[in-house]
Amino acid sequence: MCGIIGILGKAPVTPLLVEALKRLEYRGYDSAGVATLVNGHIERRRAEGKLVNLEARVAREPLPGIIGIGHTRWATHGKPSERNAHPIATDRVAIVHNGIIENFQELKDELVAEGRKFESDTDTEVVAQLLTSYLELQMSPEEAMGKAMGRLRGAFALVALFSGRHDILMGARRGSSLAVGYGEGEMYIGTDALALAPFTSRVSYLEDNDWVVLKADGCSVYQGTQKVERPIKKSGLSGDLMGKGNHQHFMLKEIHEQPAVIGDTLHSYLDPATRSVRLPSMPLDWTKVSRVTMTACGTAFYACMVAKYWFEKLARLPVEIEVASEFRYREPPLPEGGVCIAVSQSGETVDTLEALRYAQSQKQTLLSVVNVPESAIARLSNVVLMTRAGPEIGVASTKAFTTQLVVLLATAIGAGRARGTLSRQEEERLALAMIELPARINETLNMEEDYRRIAENTLAGARDVLYLGRGLSFPVALEGALKLKELSYIHAEGYAGGEMKHGPIALIDDAVPVVVVAPTDPIFDKIASNFEQVRARGGRLVLLSDARGVARLGAKAEMSIALPDVDPVVSPILYTVAVQLLAYYTALAKGTDIDQPRNLAKSVTVE
Ligand code: M6R
Repeated sequence: MCGIIGILGKAPVTPLLVEALKRLEYRGYDSAGVATLVNGHIERRRAEGKLVNLEARVAREPLPGIIGIGHTRWATHGKPSERNAHPIATDRVAIVHNGIIENFQELKDELVAEGRKFESDTDTEVVAQLLTSYLELQMSPEEAMGKAMGRLRGAFALVALFSGRHDILMGARRGSSLAVGYGEGEMYIGTDALALAPFTSRVSYLEDNDWVVLKADGCSVYQGTQKVERPIKKSGLSGDLMGKGNHQHFMLKEIHEQPAVIGDTLHSYLDPATRSVRLPSMPLDWTKVSRVTMTACGTAFYACMVAKYWFEKLARLPVEIEVASEFRYREPPLPEGGVCIAVSQSGETVDTLEALRYAQSQKQTLLSVVNVPESAIARLSNVVLMTRAGPEIGVASTKAFTTQLVVLLATAIGAGRARGTLSRQEEERLALAMIELPARINETLNMEEDYRRIAENTLAGARDVLYLGRGLSFPVALEGALKLKELSYIHAEGYAGGEMKHGPIALIDDAVPVVVVAPTDPIFDKIASNFEQVRARGGRLVLLSDARGVARLGAKAEMSIALPDVDPVVSPILYTVAVQLLAYYTALAKGTDIDQPRNLAKSVTVE
């Protein structure tokens, strides 16, 4: 969602605010803006569209000032326009905000009844107007913020700049993340440690309902009127601006990083010498676990789908998987002795966070698979299983997903070992299959031109594309379809191969490419039948299989690729790379915005 930054500095801050926004732009890119104090007055520069537009604006109309705030937006209330771009300001205060003020209409009605004039369509403006009304009642900024926190509902993080007050910046959070950075006589506040990394590695993370007053020499954090302490931690993030290396897009770079980051993740979860899984110690006994509930959104949910097969097969555990946004409101009873696993790259997806909170209320042991150690989901969990993907900048999830799969497979193996459902021999075989994955993925990446050819010749011109898979390949089909629609805006759907004949087969004609994800696993014959059913109806088949599968079906497909041979259990990890490349090259052929697809944002911190 939106990215926010505030700097209480000693030198002109606008260039620094823009630099921080570059690191936050992946969160939202509808519009951007900065505000500073110039001679005590709030001055703003805002621009619709991407950050480059704001950069051009401040180049044309420089903005001096040594204290300021900045924002990059993913619109929730009010269309993306300069008028709705943050900072949203009155003559007394300027606000940058991430999240949603749920009771904004009620507050707006009150404020309008008092005679206040609103200039934007945003929910954020009620915060600016509310604070202004308190300031006009002669409250101090501290009193105004403390009181406003009591009135605001929803999930939000915000930073406020006050006219006439060069000495303070204030922030507040509920639900959405906010971190404070400590400099030498300078202070910073922003969405996360990544945004603060160019300025400082000394960071403290605010908790829910905290509000904070930053001054040049430090900060004071409050919960209500109570002063609280938040420890300063050392962030290991580099201050260098993340580059694309030799790649045209972050997404392609991140696809290519997969052998390395999967290797790093394996390093944390496997002992190559003994070929055995090593998991962090957990406050649970797998033999006594009654049920595993897994919850996530989007691509991370597909990781849960794959893991369900693994936990059921390897650990013989009953597993329910739940789309977080549905689960949290359905409020199903969860059995005593259950484990809930939340999967999230960002660790701050609000639906997943709330689903985990619900599981906590049901006395489940909370595990999370996350890529951001200090994220809200990580902090709520009893056990954090880190992926070692490194920062993922492309909005489409790639290396985060495959490393989630690695962690989940290791966990399922560990659970199987503990429950006695997996023999030592089996564990060694699976560990070896995992250890070999980086090399197999490298081989797949070396076949990039084949994917480009299929994308250009078969997929890029299509209006609709279907993906089919069975068993462990069904979630890969869903992920392939999601990647294609996110990146290329081509309508795509994934189906379980066996479901085709129950309806979707009506869509098959010679204009609809059908990508069949078919490693030669124990149910290859079944997907081969579904392949034939599509062929019999004149469908245009793209086959993703291995050499044996291609030998059997390749001649009947319009295009086929023989992926390296791997153990069927790890095949979803390898075949995911193939569908990522198909989506990438299709989008490239269509000329869409690959790293920042329309309407999307990287971290979804609103409902
Ligand atoms: O940060 P999370 O893993 O919780 O994000 C979940 C989804 O929003 C995310 O996977 C989304 O579906 C991606 N854009 C997919 O590429």
